[in-house]
Amino acid sequence: MHPWYFIANLKMNVLSREEMRQYLSLLRREAEGKNFSRVRGVICPPVLYLSELEHLPGGFHKGAQNAFFEKSGAYTGEISPLMLKNDGVEYVILGHSERRLYGRETNEEVKKKTLLALKHHLRPVVCIGETAEERKKEKTETVLEEQMKSLFEGLSKLQAEEILLAYEPRWAIGANIFPKTEEILQVRVMARKILTEMFDAALALRVQMLYGGSVKSAFLPQVSWEAGMNGVIVGSESLFPHEVVKMMSLFEERAEKKSQPRSKSLKD
Ligand code: PGA
Repeated sequence: MHPWYFIANLKMNVLSREEMRQYLSLLRREAEGKNFSRVRGVICPPVLYLSELEHLPGGFHKGAQNAFFEKSGAYTGEISPLMLKNDGVEYVILGHSERRLYGRETNEEVKKKTLLALKHHLRPVVCIGETAEERKKEKTETVLEEQMKSLFEGLSKLQAEEILLAYEPRWAIGANIFPKTEEILQVRVMARKILTEMFDAALALRVQMLYGGSVKSAFLPQVSWEAGMNGVIVGSESLFPHEVVKMMSLFEERAEKKSQPRSKSLKD
């Protein structure tokens, strides 16, 4: 069985090495005595502080918030997937809507970044999602389809299933609003249909999908397992280590429940 995924996107919200250390020491304290064997927590700090993530608690992994689409060379200010890999990073968020907005990243660039990340054995967490405007004009499906087709076109099945596809409606990010469970489920079904057409039904089932946008522990079930998702990507709430551990524990409990044999009926 696949593990659950909990991606903590700390964005540009940690302002000093000291703050990063405090965060990690709180995280270690909160996670003490916990056993996260069926949920994978991925901490994605600002790149400057990746080196602080050496002794993460069990079940936690090192992630980055972005990477460039070239391996090395004259690209001032960029960080390559190879550099991340060489620094012990395992996951990288790509195509986040904030990068698409402020960095003018296109679907083509996101694709190039994904390919290079895969080449260097980083697990890409690729974000797709519609804007409020696109949703209003009922263009959600078209936008998601375009983003997905561009991303998966020409990939081998092995490459495709390495991608963690994160559905993050832009209007739900940092907004305290989120789609209904049925709406997320609809996106899940649509994504499966596209992947079935591009590859096959078995592959479509294997590609793991996450939800992101205003996720909190209070409604974690609604946006994850009830919506057919395999995990979440969390911004604001991931700044609180106790919330991170709380959500990881909810996933762990859920996995435990699912793996237990059903209790026999009274008649047996
Ligand atoms: P949020 O951010 O949880 O603050 O809405 C999610 C994200 O941008 O990945």
